[in-house]
Amino acid sequence: MILVTGGAGFIGANFILDWLRTSDQPVLNVDKLTYAGNLQTLSPLRDNPRHVFSQVDICDRIALDGLLKQHAPRAVLHFAAESHVDRSIHGPGDFVQTNLVGTFTLLEAVRSYLHTLSEASKARFRFLHVSTDEVYGSLSATDPQFSETMPYAPNSPYAATKAGSDHLVRAYHHTYGLQTLTTNCSNNYGPYQFPEKLIPLMIANALAGKPLPVYGDGQNVRDWLYVGDHCSAIREVLQHGKPGETYNVGGWNEKKNLDVVHTLCDLLDRLKPKASGSYRSQIISVKDRPGHDRRYAIDARKLERELGWRPAETFETGLARTVQWYLDNQAWSDEVASGEYRTWVETHYAQRA
Ligand code: NAD
Ligand code: TYD
Repeated sequence: MILVTGGAGFIGANFILDWLRTSDQPVLNVDKLTYAGNLQTLSPLRDNPRHVFSQVDICDRIALDGLLKQHAPRAVLHFAAESHVDRSIHGPGDFVQTNLVGTFTLLEAVRSYLHTLSEASKARFRFLHVSTDEVYGSLSATDPQFSETMPYAPNSPYAATKAGSDHLVRAYHHTYGLQTLTTNCSNNYGPYQFPEKLIPLMIANALAGKPLPVYGDGQNVRDWLYVGDHCSAIREVLQHGKPGETYNVGGWNEKKNLDVVHTLCDLLDRLKPKASGSYRSQIISVKDRPGHDRRYAIDARKLERELGWRPAETFETGLARTVQWYLDNQAWSDEVASGEYRTWVETHYAQRA
């Protein structure tokens, strides 16, 4: 069995769905179910005995000890995190708690669990830590892309807490010999993403006839990776990655935010035309994010050179699949766009107006 933390979130859920399609190994899914955790996403697995769900906070050491003892996983894949930069600006406390204290608690639980294993099982065990390119800070238009050897320079509370968690994972490898693997990935997009992030937010607002709020001048650059490609990279790193190493994962798709929004509007104009005019007419410029990083770009050549991984989707194919998915699954989006999420959107964008 493998243990996945944060498996009810966007990437974790995509990973579990893909994993159970391609492997016969069961998954223990450990998730606190914060506003970002959604079991609806995993409803196709309701009767699947190979998916075991446990609603547990990764800061709860006693619960983690019990789960590790009971299920004896061969690997831990750590996705759970507070993951949204804007929320980290409004309230960094939860980010420190889950991303730092939670990762530390999980590492300690795993360290103690490993004492119960044979030397051979200990050597085979893997702790795969899912992190972000945001730990490297911001690039200018002409800087080279982020490589694995670049110094860390996190700028938001989110990035700082992810950077701290990366350092803890690194220290547990060097100090205690834990067989760790770290992946630093660029912006993901695809099915089941919570509509607080750029791409699902723009699709949801466009379809609802609401403004499409672009921060600042819209010229900030992100590298975009289709979530299915991220999941295949993680499987590759888990199977063939070298313990103690970090791997950057990217889509080779650097795009300016405004260009992304234009492309989304053009796709919607084609797939679900409005009665009159283009979705582009809904785009508005709003107050910029404080400390907004200008450019992220990933050099993913190490992963290709050492493990032979490359993304399968281009930005065009991945985005077309994504828009079609949201059009076909509006019930999922409608359910998510209630409760806590609605409150967040109302207060966040009221302040920017
Ligand atoms: P998400 O916010 O969609 O999901 C996070 C999940 O973690 C949720 O299911 C939530 O309930 C759970 N969780 C939060 N706090 C928890 C706690 N204390 N204990 C247990 N579970 C808890 O996030 P995501 O977009 O799926 O990101 C997954 C991982 O990938 C994160 O570590 C994130 O930093 C990293 N990452 C994300 C992106 C991206 O573009 N989304 C890019 C690079 C790296
Ligand atoms: P986001 O999806 O929040 O990811 P991250 O901040 O982790 O890169 O944002 C992606 C980019 O889109 C980022 O430069 C901020 C910008 N953005 C907007 O312009 N408008 C929005 O409503 C949102 C949510 C993001």
